[in-house]
Amino acid sequence: MKCSPLLQTLLTANLIFTSSATQTQIPMSNPNLGPAMPPPSNPPSSSNPSTITLSDVLGADRHINIFAGFTRDFAPISQRFEDSSLNTTILAPINSAIMTLPRKPWEDKEDYEELGEEAYEGGDGADRAQRNLRRFVDAHVVPASPWGEGEKLKTLAGGEVWWEEKDGGKVIQPGGIEVSSIASKVHNGEVWILKGVRNYK
Ligand SMILES: *[C@@H]1O[C@H](CO)[C@@H](O)[C@H](O)[C@H]1NC(C)=O
Repeated sequence: MKCSPLLQTLLTANLIFTSSATQTQIPMSNPNLGPAMPPPSNPPSSSNPSTITLSDVLGADRHINIFAGFTRDFAPISQRFEDSSLNTTILAPINSAIMTLPRKPWEDKEDYEELGEEAYEGGDGADRAQRNLRRFVDAHVVPASPWGEGEKLKTLAGGEVWWEEKDGGKVIQPGGIEVSSIASKVHNGEVWILKGVRNYK
């Protein structure tokens, strides 16, 4: 059977979704989600050409590995995270936020209304799912870092986004999505872990 990277992601994600239904939820009070810590090894300096990039750190945090897996399906996204000359703030929803969505990130209510249960079957269906998943990923990528409080920017999906300080933490607007921690700060940006997902349509 020919299996595209997207299909593999979908299958893997489906397994995760399926198994999550029978397991207890990942507790939100995980000790590893504490305040941001400096990177464990040699922090990159601007004079160091062998710099650590977002692509090196994104896959390393298991709390966001579902989102990290989604990003790997899209070459332009992966390339951006590797590119030390393009800064990015990645708003990575924590696994449990993705697992508890009413619709999977590649599903669109309108597709179901228009095409019924088979909206994601066959080649066209796979393309449709891939487009929707790309939109989900793009809505969580802010093409700038550092990113100041209240600074209104457009995500790669085109929607406006900013953040505010609230009760000693950060919230992403619109939507008031809490940032649980800043997981990494590296040469070309930062990975923020979100407790929820941005509106993906
Ligand atoms: C990119 O991020 C670095 C910090 O890692 C910062 O020093 C630099 O000014 C940023 N570049 C731009 C264009 O924002």
